[in-house]
Amino acid sequence: MTEQPATQERTLVLIKPDAVARGYVGEILARIERKGLRLAALELKVAPNEVAQQHYAEHEGRPFYPSLLEFITSGPLVAAVVEGPRAVAAFRQLAGGTDPVEKAIPGTIRGDFGLETQENLVHGSDSVESAEREIALWFPAL
Ligand code: TYD
Ligand code: MG
Repeated sequence: MTEQPATQERTLVLIKPDAVARGYVGEILARIERKGLRLAALELKVAPNEVAQQHYAEHEGRPFYPSLLEFITSGPLVAAVVEGPRAVAAFRQLAGGTDPVEKAIPGTIRGDFGLETQENLVHGSDSVESAEREIALWFPAL
């Protein structure tokens, strides 16, 4: 039987300002690459307020939203487009659950390096549809 090439998928990853400030960019990119995922785009920048608001639009009105926007724009972050078979779920697996203590297990990025739900090191798109929206927002030229 002929092997079919695995269907490629793209996801939007953010290495959040806490992780950049703590010097975990290399560690997190290494985990992505070791998993077998590929970097298709990569940029270090401070998120404009407008981009941050649109990125987290689904959480508008929730109590943590103002603080989340302040945090995500508080310093440089790394935005990346990550590609590979089942890239959306694969990166969410690497990241671990949202709360680094109650949900993320050791061995995941959040489980290994995080203590706070807000400062949880990374973002990964939660579906293929979200990934398309988020990639268009962060990398309009792609
Ligand atoms: P969410 O989309 O629920 O989590 P995830 O990043 O795992 O997809 O929430 C977005 C971010 O908002 C989350 O990474 C951290 C922050 N957040 C809080 O600060 N407090 C909260 O109670 C929740 C649910 C999220
Ligand atoms: Mg989310």
